[in-house]
Amino acid sequence: MRIDLSGRVAVVTGGARGIGSQTVRALAESGAKVVVWDRDPAGAALAQELGGVFAEVDVADRPAVDEAVTRTLDACGSIDVLVNNAGIVRDAQLVKVVDRQVVGGMSESDFDAVWSVNVKGVFHCTQAVVPHMIERGFGRVINVSSIVGVYGNFGQTNYAASKFAVIGMTKVWARELAKYGITVNVVAPGFVDTEMARGVPEKLLQELIRRTPIGRLGVPAEVAAVYVFLAAEASGFVNGAVLGVDGGMVLGT
Ligand SMILES: NC(=O)c1ccc[n+]([C@@H]2O[C@H](COP(=O)([O-])OP(=O)(O)OC[C@H]3O[C@@H](n4cnc5c(N)ncnc54)[C@H](O)[C@@H]3O)[C@@H](O)[C@H]2O)c1
Repeated sequence: MRIDLSGRVAVVTGGARGIGSQTVRALAESGAKVVVWDRDPAGAALAQELGGVFAEVDVADRPAVDEAVTRTLDACGSIDVLVNNAGIVRDAQLVKVVDRQVVGGMSESDFDAVWSVNVKGVFHCTQAVVPHMIERGFGRVINVSSIVGVYGNFGQTNYAASKFAVIGMTKVWARELAKYGITVNVVAPGFVDTEMARGVPEKLLQELIRRTPIGRLGVPAEVAAVYVFLAAEASGFVNGAVLGVDGGMVLGT
């Protein structure tokens, strides 16, 4: 099956680097007009290279998201695909204990920062884009959770909470929006070789690889390929699904 997205406009949040930039490339290769939304102005060069559009936007900032929607519609006329990929980590244990004494722990500001981008960002972008999809009777919303949003993970209270929430929102929107021709799915990648994964200490990384039956980290293109499939017309009966792209990994204790 060849996926042809010509005539489709695809927005990728956090499209400036990592899995997001690979997704932008893969969507463009399939013929979509690509739109990069990122707070990092480096996304402009990628959009320009691919004949796409860039909007500098912090997805946690609702007025900025609304402005990005307006700019995108002015430049492209529609938004058919939304990949809610922007995400951050701020890892810390709930409580850090030395000799049974609590000496620190996850700060409220780190909890709030992750929640604003990973949860409210997805809420803002989807709520701002969906009215235009409803008008046209077609849409593909692709949310990005994580294996951590399925199993949890040591040191990631904020991130796990946010990625579980993304799965929850997906299941609600899949019910609410299907009648307008919009499907909503969520992908839960395992550990993928990007800047984000490079922040994981080497010893832990080796342990994660040991627990992955495929025996390596994923590469961004392997996740991007799944987003392209979900963006296609051919995936029209996939709705409310949580797709693991994790090399068969199960996170244990
Ligand atoms: N890399 C992994 O192992 C992995 C595993 C599971 C899930 N994920 C998820 O995949 C997505 C992409 O991860 P990645 O590894 O490519 O990350 P990355 O850190 O390499 O790239 C994230 C991109 O998002 C942008 N971004 C961050 N906050 C933003 C904001 N507020 N507004 C707009 N743009 C913002 C950054 O500028 C960057 O371009 C994230 O949602 C992440 O949680 C990654």
